[in-house]
Amino acid sequence: MTGRARKSAASPTSPMIETTALVKTYGTKPALANVNLLVPTGSLYGLVGPNGAGKTTLLDTIAGLRAPTSGTATVNAATNEIAVLPDTPRYDPWLTGREAVLLAQHLTDPSGGMDRVDEVLEQTGLAEASSRRVGGYSRGMLQRLGVACTIVGKPRLVLLDEPASALDPQGRREILDLIAELRGTATVLFSSHILGDVQEVCDTVGVLNQGELLYQGSLGDLLVGDAVPRYLVRLRDAADAVAKRLRTVAWVEGVTAVGDQALEVQVTSLDVAETGLPKELAAAGARVVSYGPLEVTLEQAFLELTR
Ligand SMILES: Nc1ncnc2c1ncn2[C@@H]1O[C@H](COP(=O)(O)OP(=O)(O)OP(=O)(O)O)[C@@H](O)[C@H]1O
Ligand SMILES: [Mg+2]
Repeated sequence: MTGRARKSAASPTSPMIETTALVKTYGTKPALANVNLLVPTGSLYGLVGPNGAGKTTLLDTIAGLRAPTSGTATVNAATNEIAVLPDTPRYDPWLTGREAVLLAQHLTDPSGGMDRVDEVLEQTGLAEASSRRVGGYSRGMLQRLGVACTIVGKPRLVLLDEPASALDPQGRREILDLIAELRGTATVLFSSHILGDVQEVCDTVGVLNQGELLYQGSLGDLLVGDAVPRYLVRLRDAADAVAKRLRTVAWVEGVTAVGDQALEVQVTSLDVAETGLPKELAAAGARVVSYGPLEVTLEQAFLELTR
C-alpha cells in the first residue's frame, strides 16, 4: 500500500507515528530513501540532519501535505489532533497576532468552547505585540506566533519543522522550555540542525542524512554508543613529546593533537586512565593545565555517523 493511513483504534502502546519503507523522489532524486521512522507515543523525538537531508519532506509526508512515492506513513491521531508548524510560517499580514491565534484555535475547536489564546500568547512572549498586525512581525516573532498557533488547540501530535531556527538565544530558550512542557500531554516530533537544542529536550533521536535514517533510538544510547573513552589533556608546554610517550603505553589506543597545547587521548577503559594517565603525564614531565574525560556530544556522534 502506498500513502498515508490513520489507525483510529490504536492500542495505548502503539507508536504515534510509524513509516514503512517510505520513499520520496523528486524527479529522479531520492529525498527519502526507505525510511522506517518509529515515534513512540508520548516521546519528544528530535529529527536531526544537515540541510537537504529530507527533514521537511519527511515531516510534510507524515502530515499528509506531500504524497510519498512509495511506502506508508501511519499516524495514530485524528486530523484535528495533529498540529504542524512549517519551517517558515506565513500568515495573512492584516491579521493581528491575537487574531491569528484565535483563528488557529477556531480551526481546532469550531464550537468555541476553548479559550487558550491569552495563555499561549503569554507563553510564547507575544502578549505585548498581540494587537499588532503580523505583516510587521520580525522572523523571530513569526516563529513564536507559529508555535502559539500550533499549540493553542492542545494537539496530541505536534510536528515542528525547525521551530527555533530564527530565534535569538532567549527566544530559543523559551521555545525549548515550551516544547519540554508539552511532555506528557503531546507527542512531539521536531526537526532541527541545532544539535544542542535536540540534546537538551529530546528523549529519542533520529539522524537523517541524504534521505536515509542512519540512527534512531534513545539519545543516551547514541551518545554512549561503542565509543572508546577519551580524555582531553591541556598542557602548558608543546604537546609533541608527551604525545610520543603516551603512544608507547599499552592501554592508550590513540593520541591526537588538538592545536599545540592539548591532546585527545583514547584509552581502553576509564579505570586504567584514571589511575595510569596522571602517572604517565608526570613521568613525561608534562605541565598539565587541565585533564578530564571527553563526553561524546550529539554533534560528535552526528559527525561520526554522517562522515
Ligand atoms: N518541492 C521540491 N521539488 C524538488 N526537490 C525538492 C523539493 N523539496 C525538497 N527537494 C529536495 O529534496 C531534498 C530534501 O529536501 P528537504 O527540504 O526535505 O531537506 P531538509 O532536511 O528539510 O533541509 P533544510 O535543513 O535545508 O530545511 C533536497 O535535495 C531538496 O533539494
Ligand atoms: Mg527543511
